[in-house]
Amino acid sequence: MGQTAWFISRGTGLVSLILLTATVVLGVLTSGRFATSATPRFAVSALHRNISMLAVVFLVVHISTAILDGFVSLRWIDVVIPFIADYHPFWLGLGAVAIDLLLAVMVTSLLRARMPLKVWRGVHWLAYACWPIAVAHGLGIGGADSKLGWVITLNIVCVLSVAGISVWRANRTDADAEARARYRAEAR
Ligand code: HEM
Repeated sequence: MGQTAWFISRGTGLVSLILLTATVVLGVLTSGRFATSATPRFAVSALHRNISMLAVVFLVVHISTAILDGFVSLRWIDVVIPFIADYHPFWLGLGAVAIDLLLAVMVTSLLRARMPLKVWRGVHWLAYACWPIAVAHGLGIGGADSKLGWVITLNIVCVLSVAGISVWRANRTDADAEARARYRAEAR
């Protein structure tokens, strides 16, 4: 197999990061009730769900090829128990933390109908923590690719996308609160 699996692992790591970023952006758009005539709310929400599933598929490939390749010493347990790996224990541990958070979000989403909305939403907020931790894992582990100009640019674009959408969401909340206050004042 040569270095093929190692290259696939690094490539799918980067694709996972892009898909995870898109998932966060679409999730924020969904919670901010974004819609246009061309992209109704249900389409944004369906895209959020489908891209998150695609991210999981790429993560499975990223992780399993890293382990099966054998280029560095990694065990399956390192995937879920953080900071015990021989290879870059801290930065790989962040990857494991991101996976644990992602698993919690996935399991509660599958059981959503059977749990109080507040609990599901609380756990779903973990998805926001998962994203910066995954970014830190990818950058900090210092793979050969992380020094390439286009990989640095890709990381910057991901960070700016999430920062931009967070600013949009914060303003949107203010606008919503103002609209509600105006409505209440008019109803009096
Ligand atoms: C949400 C979870 C994760 C994301 C988004 C992610 C993404 C990434 C990214 C973007 C890179 C850098 C690729 C490069 O610059 O070449 C990377 C590297 C790496 N990841 Fe992950 N990863 C995640 C979780 C994990 C987990 C749980 C493991 C455990 C097996 C893992 C194993 C590795 C390894 C071994 C590298 C180093 C590659 C090298 O040294 O060149 N990742 N990951």
